[in-house]
Amino acid sequence: MNSAISMIREKNKNLKPCIHGGAVWEAASMAGFRREEILDFSSSVNPLGPSPNALEAMRGSFGQIASYPDSNSTQLRKVIANHFKGISGDNVIVGNGSTELIYLFAETFMERGDLALVPAPTFSEYERAVRKAEGRLKFVKLDSRFHVNPNAFARALKGSRVAFFCNPNNPTSVLTPAERLTAIVERALEENAFVFLDEDFLEFVDEGERFSLISKIRLYANLFVLRSFTKIFGLTGLRVGYGIASEEIISLMLDAKLPWNVNCLAQSAAVAALADEEHLKKTRELIRGEKAFLTHGLKRIKAFKVFPADANFILMDVRQSGYTAAQVAEKLLRKGILIRDCSSFRGLDEYYVRVAVKTRRENERLLEAFEEIVGENYGE
Ligand SMILES: Cc1ncc(COP(=O)(O)O)c(C=O)c1O
Repeated sequence: MNSAISMIREKNKNLKPCIHGGAVWEAASMAGFRREEILDFSSSVNPLGPSPNALEAMRGSFGQIASYPDSNSTQLRKVIANHFKGISGDNVIVGNGSTELIYLFAETFMERGDLALVPAPTFSEYERAVRKAEGRLKFVKLDSRFHVNPNAFARALKGSRVAFFCNPNNPTSVLTPAERLTAIVERALEENAFVFLDEDFLEFVDEGERFSLISKIRLYANLFVLRSFTKIFGLTGLRVGYGIASEEIISLMLDAKLPWNVNCLAQSAAVAALADEEHLKKTRELIRGEKAFLTHGLKRIKAFKVFPADANFILMDVRQSGYTAAQVAEKLLRKGILIRDCSSFRGLDEYYVRVAVKTRRENERLLEAFEEIVGENYGE
């Protein structure tokens, strides 16, 4: 037989996994720590973890493990629809993490050679999903404060099949106002293009639902809104996310997806997580206070340029410290702290880092560690 490499499909030849935060296993083994000893600021998830009710519901579903899960996550889709009002379960699709739905969307709606518009910098899986679907990419650079120029974006929409947009954006933590997004969706409609709007971090934004376009899916047949149970709900390792769109889009995606894509434990936990409003309230209060605390502490480190954060993570430019992001990350890892070196993001250079907002004790540890490191070089 010929070597496998000589038989790989052309489109997969240069495909590599994206780099992400949260790689605690690798970090621990690299730095000689146990996994539990790593303080992870690199993945921006609920620092309180999941709702205890979600864990209880999951344990209550252990008896279902011997059967296949509901392939279409019917109950969870209904519960999600009730949560948002004005939509039905037929407007909802559930995925193995929201990542699955990014790939499924591209695979369902993009022909080879179709053009996808992607801002830079943003979450890297959109680009990879387009490449896997054999689409072409056009990148729209965000401005120096990482805001989108709506006119430039609208112009770039010409000839596109789909525009990806993340609100608030990862890694910049910038929220785009709903009116600006609506204008983009309307322009895309004229161009016969979809808008794939990733709202995975919107629940961390104060009064976030005011900024959501979920209520607009009946108005715009080209709109797909992405959400996740990974971030504020903290069901990160269970892998469950969802998308909301017209019945037509959802039904086409349901037909194209893999069977049994979301396991039974994840489905039960997600139903219970959505109902636990107390846990969400507690989380939002914590994030609000701790974001202010951490931002204030970081801003006192003169060598860092701290960008305003709308979500539960903060982007910083560390070039004045005399270190690259990789060097800062490496020094922190030696102290058992993992942060996101953002140099892999298209549109950022090697001087940006991203940190999540965590609990007071954890945030204090991060600030102390930063001060020690920067002090070494900057004389603070
Ligand atoms: C903006 C954004 N969208 C989607 C995802 C995928 O999340 P998940 O597949 O865990 O739902 C991530 C993960 O980091 C993300 O940052």
